[in-house]
Amino acid sequence: MIRSNKTKKAVLKALLEIPGEIVSGPDLCRIADVSRQSVWKAVDSLRVEGFEIEAVPHKGYRLGDSGTADLSPTWLELALENTCWGETVLFWKSLASTQEPAKELARQGAPEGLLVVADEQTSGRGRLGRKWQSPQGGSICFSVIVRPNLLPGRIQLLSFAAAIAVHETLENNFGVSFELKWPNDILYRGAKVCGILTETASEPGKVHYAVTGIGINANMDSRAISMDVAGPSTSLLAILGRPVHRGEVIASIIRIMEREVRSLETAQGSKKCIDEYMKRCSTLGQEVIVRQEDKTLRGKAVGISDSGEIILVISGKERTLAAADITHLRTN
Ligand code: BTN
Repeated sequence: MIRSNKTKKAVLKALLEIPGEIVSGPDLCRIADVSRQSVWKAVDSLRVEGFEIEAVPHKGYRLGDSGTADLSPTWLELALENTCWGETVLFWKSLASTQEPAKELARQGAPEGLLVVADEQTSGRGRLGRKWQSPQGGSICFSVIVRPNLLPGRIQLLSFAAAIAVHETLENNFGVSFELKWPNDILYRGAKVCGILTETASEPGKVHYAVTGIGINANMDSRAISMDVAGPSTSLLAILGRPVHRGEVIASIIRIMEREVRSLETAQGSKKCIDEYMKRCSTLGQEVIVRQEDKTLRGKAVGISDSGEIILVISGKERTLAAADITHLRTN
C-alpha cells in the first residue's frame, strides 16, 4: 500500500508549481520544513508513485513527465485539499476489491471521506452479484467511506449522489453526453462506462457506515471487457480517442459527491438532489424491460420515489421497485 505524508505533499506541491524548472534542495527543505535527507526520501517515494523527478547535481530537483502518476495518492490528497473528503487516500497497485479494505477500515472507525484506490482489481464486484473487471493501467476503481445522516431505507440515495457526481464530472470534463440509467449505471450510446456499488452496515433506524465503490472503464480497450460480465461496455478511451488523467476524474467525483451527500441530509436538499437525479436519468419516460429474480416484466418508467425506487406503469398499474435490472427498449 502507498500513502502520502506531509513532506511528500509539500515537495510535490513545490515541484508542481513550476513544472520543468529546478527547485533547489535548500528551498525544498525550507518549504517542507525538513532535513535534506527527508526531502531525498520524499522524492524517492514520489518516484514510486510514478513521478519522474530528476535530481540535477548541485542545483536541485525537476519534475518531468508525470503521465504514469495519474493515480498518485499524494497528487489526489493535494487536489482534494479544500474539501473534507479525500484527506486520506490509500493506494494499492493491485487489490481483490477496493470495497474490502474500505469496509474493514470503516468497521474500525475510519473517518468519512477516506478513499481506497487501486490500479487493478482481481475480484472486482458489481451489483446483483456480478463481477466487475478492472484491468491494470486502464481502470478507475475506488471506494469511499460515507457516514451519512440518512435512514437505512433511503440509502439508495447515496448511490444517486455518486451517480450525479460521475455524470456531472464526465459531461463537464469531456464535453460529451452520457446517459444515467436507473439506478446508477452511466452509459454512452447504450454501452456501460461506469458502475456504482454501495454497501452498508446498519441497524434499524441508523446507518453506521456505507462504502460506495465506483468503477469506470477509463484508459482501456473496451473489447477487453467480456460481454457476459457486463453486457455492452465501452471506455473513455474509446469515446474520446485519448487517455484521461484518472486522478482528476476521481477528485472531481469526490468533490461533487461530498456536496450531494451533505445536501441529501436535509429535507429541502434531498428534494433538490432527487430532482437533479431525475433531470439526468434517461430511464424516465422510457419503455423498459425489468428483470427481477425469476420474473421479467415490461413497462414504462414514470418516476422516482423519495427513497430512490423507480416507479413503473406495468399493464396500466403503478409499481414501485427498489432493486432490479433494467434494460431500456430505446437507446437515447
Ligand atoms: C455495477 O455496475 O454492477 C457496479 C460496479 C461497481 C464496481 C466498483 S469498482 C470499485 C469498487 N470495488 C468493487 O469491487 N466494486 C466497486
